[in-house]
Amino acid sequence: MKKGIVIYGSQYGATEKYAKEIAGQLGFDCVSHTEIKSIDSYQIVILGGGHYAGSITGFKKTLEKINIDNTDLIVFTVGLSSKTAENIDAINTAVRNVISKEKVDDSRIFYYRGNMDFKKLSMVHRLMMKFMIGQCKKVPEANKTDDQKGIANLEKQSVDFINVNEVNELVELVKTL
Ligand SMILES: Cc1cc2nc3c(=O)[nH]c(=O)nc-3n(C[C@H](O)[C@H](O)[C@H](O)COP(=O)(O)O)c2cc1C
Repeated sequence: MKKGIVIYGSQYGATEKYAKEIAGQLGFDCVSHTEIKSIDSYQIVILGGGHYAGSITGFKKTLEKINIDNTDLIVFTVGLSSKTAENIDAINTAVRNVISKEKVDDSRIFYYRGNMDFKKLSMVHRLMMKFMIGQCKKVPEANKTDDQKGIANLEKQSVDFINVNEVNELVELVKTL
């Protein structure tokens, strides 16, 4: 099999968990985006990042540092949103803001669900989430989506949707490269 590396951007550990699972199953190296210097010796690059209000941790900085032109690129993102078509669309838009179709095909972009413990968030993130919680609380109960119900309750109850078994499809795809 070709030599590969998983590069992840993770602020509270969810993306890191998925990255380590993928790397472990494939026997690939695994590093945080803050540590990557060069990918010259790798033929496959798997780039993962947590989703934060329209941007994905580490993607832009990593792509400024490394040259992916001669590699097989696979992308995964991690967020709290459920996998509705609308949410997947928003997530893919965030990916497309930094990576074009020529560099990575839609079939090579994966999405996994993460977690959140409100008490462990940084001050800035807590303020951002408080705003989002307030917005969700304003929606009449009968009209709230499941995601909005979950967000409205986030201050009281942490959530954890991490399921590392989800990486199987990505791993099987990489094995065919
Ligand atoms: C300020 C803030 C904004 C977020 N925005 C989104 C979002 O737009 N979409 C989403 O699905 N999840 C969003 N999340 C949830 C994170 O993506 C989720 O907690 C994820 O597990 C973080 O991964 P990480 O721990 O690897 O950084 C947000 C979280 C915070 C704190």
